[in-house]
Order: sequence, then structure tokens, then C-alpha cells
Amino acid sequence: MSLKAKLQENVELSALNTLRVSATARFYMDVASLADLRGALVWAETNGYTTLVLGGGSNLVFAGDFAGLVIRIQMADRYWEQADDTGATLVLGAGENWHHAVLYAASAGYRGIENLALIPGTAGAAPVQNIGAYGVELCDTLVSVTALDRETNELVCLENAECGFAYRDSLFKRSPGRYIITAIRLRLSRDKPLQLGYRDLEEYLGDTADKDLSAFAVAEAVMAVRHRKLPDPAILPNAGSFFKNPVVSGEQFNELQAAHPDVVGYPKSRTVKLAAAWLIDQSGWKGYRNARVGVHNRQALVLINHSGGTGQDVLELASDIRQSVQKRFGVELEMEPGIVGG
Ligand code: EPU
Repeated sequence: MSLKAKLQENVELSALNTLRVSATARFYMDVASLADLRGALVWAETNGYTTLVLGGGSNLVFAGDFAGLVIRIQMADRYWEQADDTGATLVLGAGENWHHAVLYAASAGYRGIENLALIPGTAGAAPVQNIGAYGVELCDTLVSVTALDRETNELVCLENAECGFAYRDSLFKRSPGRYIITAIRLRLSRDKPLQLGYRDLEEYLGDTADKDLSAFAVAEAVMAVRHRKLPDPAILPNAGSFFKNPVVSGEQFNELQAAHPDVVGYPKSRTVKLAAAWLIDQSGWKGYRNARVGVHNRQALVLINHSGGTGQDVLELASDIRQSVQKRFGVELEMEPGIVGG
């Protein structure tokens, strides 16, 4: 099919974002190869349109329509490299479904990403916010990212250390639009210790945590723990944690603790990471809902689109939550999903 034939006009995006908010893409293209990606970018540049690269649509809010070209990355590929007695390298095309990749690796007996089961989205989006859950982050196993560098139009391979990973952050997030990720490489292990220490997971596993569990058994446990607290986007549209857990200084934490002895925080060198869910919960938002949008009743960090909410509805709710947390605790919440369109 020619590139022109793949180009669609005025495409409704509600099925392509997990918050299920309605927005229209002026132009839209599914892209499954590097050649098509380059072609789509040239087309947009020639015709004066901005571009938006979409993966699973699980970490963004459409504030309105997108007047340019939406490119949905669908490069599917999944294979092993450099397998030896201790481990193997899993190569994933950017369009691969992340959760399916986790199950694929865990069922082959490889450890490293089983705690990241059920995180919505694609493999290519995973490095952008350095996805993390239950004590594990993508950067713990990531070897390299292959991406199209739009400044040079070259395909580059960035090693882990070059990706600037931090908590829910990376070079890709800090330089929006520059890199389009086409594939990632993960080094997985046959014998690396499992990470079972995160409280919810430990509680769920109980005594079985002492037994020699398979990576797949851990993935299943993570799935069960997530099902208990986190809403399934297919049933209650959401974008996962809507805010990052804020990091404050030790002094600010001590002041907070003096005023609120139950405040939840995890010390890390001289800073403390606060549980944003606790701050939001304590500000009275858990389970709140208006006619269209609300806050999940089992995890206050997750905003839900209950009934035809727009991106603006979600952003207004987020703004109200930020203001009330700021007023009550003097802590600034930072949004995790990106805002696009409008
Ligand atoms: N809490 C409340 N109220 C709530 C929920 C939690 O007070 O409604 C308290 C809990 O009691 C707990 C603390 O807040 O002491 C932390 O809660 P939890 O362990 O559920 O984790 P979280 O900090 O809310 C983070 C990630 C999640 C990840 C979980 C598990 C961020 C922003 N969120 O949530 O990631 O699944 O840990 O590792 O780091 C995501 O990014 O989309 C996401 C879901």
C-alpha cells in the first residue's frame, strides 16, 4: 500500500487513548516500518503539519483535537539475542504490547520484568517514562534503545547510561519530539534474585514468597495485586497514576510529619519520596466523582473517565486536586501523563 493510501483524515482518537476521551486527529497514519515512519515525517514536514507519535495512548490526555498528523507506532517484532546459560537479551519492536512481552519473557523462564506485568502501553513507550512498579523499573534491565533522531534523521542506538533514566523520567521525556523509539533491548536473567519486597506484593505472596517462585508465578501475583487496586482501563477508562510521587527534602518531610504523623514517605539519601495517593486520599478525593470524571475508589492516584468526560474535564479535576493538596500539605503534585492537542 502506498504511503498516501495509508494516510487517513479526521480520525476519532477515543479508542486510541486509555482515558477514552474524544479528540480528532486531522491526519492519522499507522506506521509499521522505519521506511513508513520516515515517509510519514517527510509528508508532515512538506505539508506543514506537526506530528504526534502515539503508542498505546496510556499516558496522555487529549486536551482537544490534534491539528497535525498522528503517527501510531506499530512496529511489531520480538526475538532473543545472545542467549547463554545465565540469561538472554530480549529485543522488542516499539509497537509490541508491553504486558504481552512480560508474559512472553516470564513464560520462557527469564527474570527481570515480571514485576512490570499489566502496565498498559507499548514497549516503545516504556523507556519514555521509565515505567516502574513493585520495586522494579524498566531501567534495571534495559540495555539500549533504538530511535530515530529527528535532529539528524539518523537511527541511533542509545545505551542505558545515555538515556538519562530517573524516577518516571528519561532523556526521551525531557526532549519531547526529538526521538522516535523504534525498538528496545532488555537483558533478562535466568537466576537473578526476584524482587518480592514491595509491601503489597509481599503481603499477597505470604509464605510462598520464601519458596522458589518462577518469574511467571511472580507476574501472576503482580497481576492479582494490580487487579485488586488498579482499575482495568477497558472497564474504567484511566491513565494509571495521574501524578508522580513528589520528592521533598528531609527537612520538609520532618515538618510534614510533625503536622501529619501518618504521612507516608520513602526516604532516599537526603530526600523523601511522598505517596501522592496518600496526600490525595487525605485531601478527601478518593472515590469522588462528578457527572463525568472522578477519582478511583481504591487508589486515589488514578483519575477515571466515568461517562463521556473530555480531556478538559480530566484536567480540571487534576487541577482541583493539585490545589487542594497544595493548600493542605504545601506539596506540589506533578502530572505524570503528557497533555496533547487542543
Ligand atoms: N495510599 C493511600 N490511599 C490510596 C492509595 C494508596 O493512602 O488511595 C497509600 C498506601 O497506603 C501506601 C502508599 O499510599 O502506603 C503508596 O501506595 P501504593 O503502594 O499503592 O503505590 P503508589 O505510590 O500509589 C506507585 C506507582 C504505581 C505502581 C505502584 C506499585 C507512581 C506514581 N505510581 O503507586 O504506578 O503500580 O507504586 O509499585 O510511582 C503508574 O505509574 O501508572 C502506576 C500505577
